[in-house]
Order: sequence, then structure tokens, then C-alpha cells
Amino acid sequence: MSPEKQIPLAKGHWLYGSLKEMNKDILSYTSEQRKLLGDIFYVDVFVFKVIVITKPDYIRHVLQENNKNYVKSFSYEVLKLFLGNGLLTSEGDFWRKQRRLAQPAFHKEKLIEITRQMSRSAEALAAKLEDVKQHNKEIDITEYMNEVTLDIVAAALFSTNVSDKMEVIRNSLTVANEFAISRIKHPIAWPLWMPVKANREFRKAGLELDSVIYNFIESRRKEKEKPNDLLSMLMDAVDEETGECMSDLQLRDECMTIFLAGHETTSLALSWFWMLMEQNPEEEQKLCNELKIVLDGRTPGFADIPRLKYTKQLIEETMRLYPPAWTIGRKSLAADDIDGYKISPAQNMMLMTYHVHRHPDYWEEPDRFNPERFSDENAKNIKKFAYFPFGGGPRLCIGNSFAMMEMQIVIATLAQRFKFRRTETHEIEKDPLVTMRPKGGIKMNIE
Ligand code: HEM
Repeated sequence: MSPEKQIPLAKGHWLYGSLKEMNKDILSYTSEQRKLLGDIFYVDVFVFKVIVITKPDYIRHVLQENNKNYVKSFSYEVLKLFLGNGLLTSEGDFWRKQRRLAQPAFHKEKLIEITRQMSRSAEALAAKLEDVKQHNKEIDITEYMNEVTLDIVAAALFSTNVSDKMEVIRNSLTVANEFAISRIKHPIAWPLWMPVKANREFRKAGLELDSVIYNFIESRRKEKEKPNDLLSMLMDAVDEETGECMSDLQLRDECMTIFLAGHETTSLALSWFWMLMEQNPEEEQKLCNELKIVLDGRTPGFADIPRLKYTKQLIEETMRLYPPAWTIGRKSLAADDIDGYKISPAQNMMLMTYHVHRHPDYWEEPDRFNPERFSDENAKNIKKFAYFPFGGGPRLCIGNSFAMMEMQIVIATLAQRFKFRRTETHEIEKDPLVTMRPKGGIKMNIE
């Protein structure tokens, strides 16, 4: 154990601490404090005291080395209202069992069938954008990316007959997402049982989506020939230790989790990607060159994925600068020691992916877009946990290969036909809510 060190406290107002600054611009504020105080510091938020961490070794300690001592923090409680006890929000033995059951469904080989659907959805989007282009209409690229990623995750889960339910699914997820954001921003809210408008709408959206998902489960149980999608894989999964399958409630929670975790983050990474492509024409040209060599106008499929290397580097660099999961929240169970810093039990902390990804100690010219950082040769030198857009340790994102393939396919399909150009000139603000969104969307023309 290292000698005890004091965790510094960010100076704030005597009563509400740094609440105002955190609410106004949490990224700038914590970045300033990091420069002043170092890679671990306390922030007072009214009555809560949160530890902010921006050092890869400390993050590795929390997510990997001593992960058993850390559970998910307050913001996940809010997500639980909607996701129930799914993979993202559950803990302990229950989570371990669910992860064991779900993991095989996400193995790369199992995703072959799903990549076909990814290509189909990307093609459908390209056709839609072609039409928009004919009419010279301005678009908000985030909306289109949201639509295509939701389409893909819905088809990956339920394969057939999703299109007629998409409207309900999309609306319910939007209501739930807005509700979660508002709860995280204003932790002192009406209890859920109060019949106020926000609660009523949230409940209604939850019930509607529940009914869609339970219908899928019920009809799937009756089918003799089951399609090869995530729902079938989750249904067929048998726990080797207990011989049990998932109940309908567990299936519902996992489907809901995959729906939410599986589309919002990917859609944001794609949206930031198109903004960066416009800002970096040289890299955009290199992307076009790779697509010409590998695909020459073809729709990309599973076999093309390993050859779309530069496309992958571009995506990785996008998620370095704009990690959709910009922070990961944890709470300690027992007291701990991180490099001599004493951690009390029940201590909430924010592992700041965004700051680590732009930390000058680990990245040269950290704010510059440079996909060469992720070439085979250079990637070997990246420090462990200096880059962790998908988290790490046992709670590493289960959909990371899924997401990478999906982004490669969508980008390769669209970039062969279109260039997107912004119609506004102001710098796009980052809006770090549950995920990091571009404030006001990204308005673009299609060329
Ligand atoms: C660019 C896209 C994505 C990003 C940046 C991302 C990021 C993350 C991160 C950071 C975590 C860890 C959270 C924590 O430790 O508290 C996570 C967990 C998770 N993600 Fe993703 N994700 C992405 C795409 C996906 C996709 C496509 C799926 C499913 C199809 C998915 C499903 C999940 C699930 C189920 C978990 C919980 C895993 C567990 O705790 O066992 N994600 N994701």
C-alpha cells in the first residue's frame, strides 16, 4: 500500500459547492479542475461529494483490478426504471449469470447474419438520402443516424416484422431517454408514483414498448423454425452451471437494454464522424480511396470488415475525441486505496473517458484529429485505459464488435455515394447528458 495522500477538493460555493459550474459546462469545469488539482479530485455537488478520476492507471484499478469493490452509481438507478434488471444495470451474481448467457450471442461469428441486416439497413438509408438529395433538402444527420442504428438493433433482436412497430419503438425510446436525462439533471424530482405529466408519459411509453417486446417473445415461443437473431439466441441460451434459461421478464429486460444501449451510442459516434469528415478533407479522401480499392461500389458485407482498416481507424479516432459514453459512473462498496488515496465506502466517482482521451500525458497534440494513432504499428503503444470508449474489465461493452462492424458498414455504404457538408458555421457544442450528443443536432447538405 502506498503512503496516504489527500484527495484535493475543487473549490466551490459554501452551500451548493460546484453545482452551478457542473450544470453549466461539466466538461470545461472538470478539465480546468484537472489542470489545477491533478488526476484525482473531489467535486462537491450540493450534498453529494463525487470523485473525478482522469488517470488511466486509477481507472484500470476501478474497472479491472479491484472491480469487485465497485458497482454502478446513481445515474444507473435512473436507467433501471426503464431497463429493469438487464445487463447494463444489474450487479453481482445475477449480472454474472446473465452475461454468461448473453455473451455467445455477441461472438464475432454469430454476428455474420446480423451484418447482412446491417448492410440492408444501410442500403435503405442510402436510398432515402438519395431522395433527400434530389430535393436539395437540409438534414439533421443525427436523426438519420439514429434511425438507421435503431433499425439495425431492432432487426438484430427480432429479425422480421419490425418495420410496422418502429414508430411505437422510436417514440417510446425517445420519451424514456428524455425522462432519464431530466431525472439525472434534476435528481430531486417527483416520485414515480405521482401522477404528474412526465411520470404519466414515461409510464405509458414503458407499457407500449413492453407490449411490443412481450408480443415478440410470446410469438417466438410458439414458432417451430426460429430465425437466427439475438432474441432466439438469448432464448436458447442455457446456463451451464444451473441448466436454466431466461424467464420472459429477463428476456424483456435484456431486449430493452440492448435496444437502448445498442443504438444511441452508435448513432452518436456516427454523427460525430460525419462532422469530422467534413473538417478533415485529406482523411475523407483517404477513406474514399480505401472504399474504392476494397469495395469499388459494392455494398460492404462481413468478409469486407477486416479490409476496411482505415475506416476503422477513423472510427476509433472519432470515439477518442467524441466518446459517446463520455463518463462511466461507479460507487465503492468497501473502503479502498488507489495509489495512496483513501476511498471511503459508498463513494460515488466519475471515470472521465472524455478527459483521458484528450490527456496531454498520453496523447501528442491531443485535440488534433489524427487516425494514424490507431494504425497497427502505433496502436500497440497506446497505454492501457488511455483509450476505453467501450469501458473495460468484466463490464466491458458486450456490443463492441457489433458496434464496430455496424459503423464500418454504414460508413462504407454512405461514403461511397455521399459527402455531407454543414450548413451552419458555429462550432458544435457537446451536450454531455447520459451520452454525449451534439447540441442542436448537426445540420448538413448532401453532395
Ligand atoms: C459506439 C457504440 C457503443 C459505445 C461507445 C458503447 C459503450 C459502452 C460502455 C462504455 C459500456 C460500459 C458501461 C459501464 O461500465 O458502466 C457499455 C456497456 C454495454 N453495452 Fe455498449 N456501447 C456501444 C454499442 C453497443 C451495442 C451496439 C450494444 C448492443 C447491441 C451495446 C450493449 C451494451 C450492453 C448490454 C452493456 C452492458 C454490459 C455489461 O455490463 O455486461 N453497446 N457500452
